[in-house]
Amino acid sequence: MSELRITVDGEPLTGAAGQTIAGVLLTAGRRSWRRTASGAPRGVFCGIGVCFDCLVTVNGVPDVRACRRRAQDGDVVTTQAR
Ligand code: FES
Repeated sequence: MSELRITVDGEPLTGAAGQTIAGVLLTAGRRSWRRTASGAPRGVFCGIGVCFDCLVTVNGVPDVRACRRRAQDGDVVTTQAR
């Protein structure tokens, strides 16, 4: 299985080809990466693209569901707060 590298808020993370961005984050030990307006932490809830709790910005595109987007080598991911 080939390896891929992404950055999340500037932190380099390594994943496996075929993993979602959420999968790479969870593998790295991250359980939450977004904050709601009230400041509550959010990460994966449904894992199937329904709840939108896992939103991140990928390569400048906001509101990408991390549980649905396969990580691509070189992706630049930034976390969102809202
Ligand atoms: S975890 Fe529910 S949409 Fe991603």
